[in-house]
Amino acid sequence: MSEYRNLRSLTVLGLAVIGMSLSACGGGEGPPKPPPPAPAEYADKHMPDGYWNNPDILAEGKAIYTGQHNIDVNCASCHGKNGKPVKAGARDFRRAEQMELYSDSVWFWRVNEGVKGTKMKAWKSKLSEDEIWKVIAFESTFGLNGKEYDVAAKKWVAAGTAGSAPAEAPAAEAPATEAPAGDAAH
Ligand code: HEC
Repeated sequence: MSEYRNLRSLTVLGLAVIGMSLSACGGGEGPPKPPPPAPAEYADKHMPDGYWNNPDILAEGKAIYTGQHNIDVNCASCHGKNGKPVKAGARDFRRAEQMELYSDSVWFWRVNEGVKGTKMKAWKSKLSEDEIWKVIAFESTFGLNGKEYDVAAKKWVAAGTAGSAPAEAPAAEAPATEAPAGDAAH
């Protein structure tokens, strides 16, 4: 009987120790896990031109993130001043291998609508779209500093190089010899 009880308490103790060591490393986040895809209505939401890694935009984003801009919006109170979470379960923005799995659209969707069943709430009632983009530009610097999201290539690339690959549509349409565009189509 008592042997059984000892075994049980030992198991409980063991589990507690494992739990503690898990939460000690990386804030409890396991291996990188892709976020769910953004709903269709977010597919066309992208970072405005010239925002990534723009010092003025980053300064505004930081003011939003830290609650200086609006005291009701303080991302740092959970995600930490430098992206190291201070509240359990908050996403760690310093983990590049995790944050690289977020497109700009997914990132926007999550900030706009929050993550149901978690402390991450929807911010759309407190922040304009423009403000959300600014705070995202700032947040990305914790783990993805010097990078920007390339929408066409669907990945993070060095700042200033996004979209440089597909010099696409305009070039193809360029040889418009006929002036009246309406007739040119057919
Ligand atoms: C009250 C605490 C809290 C505050 C304040 C907060 N967050 Fe979060 N945030 C969380 C938690 C917890 C998660 C993890 C949700 C999950 O499990 O996916 C999270 C996740 C995220 C994610 C990742 C979502 C995903 O799919 O993994 C982003 C991006 C994010 N927060 C941005 C922000 C921004 C921007 C602000 C400020 C406007 C903010 N958070 C404020 C708690 C908070």
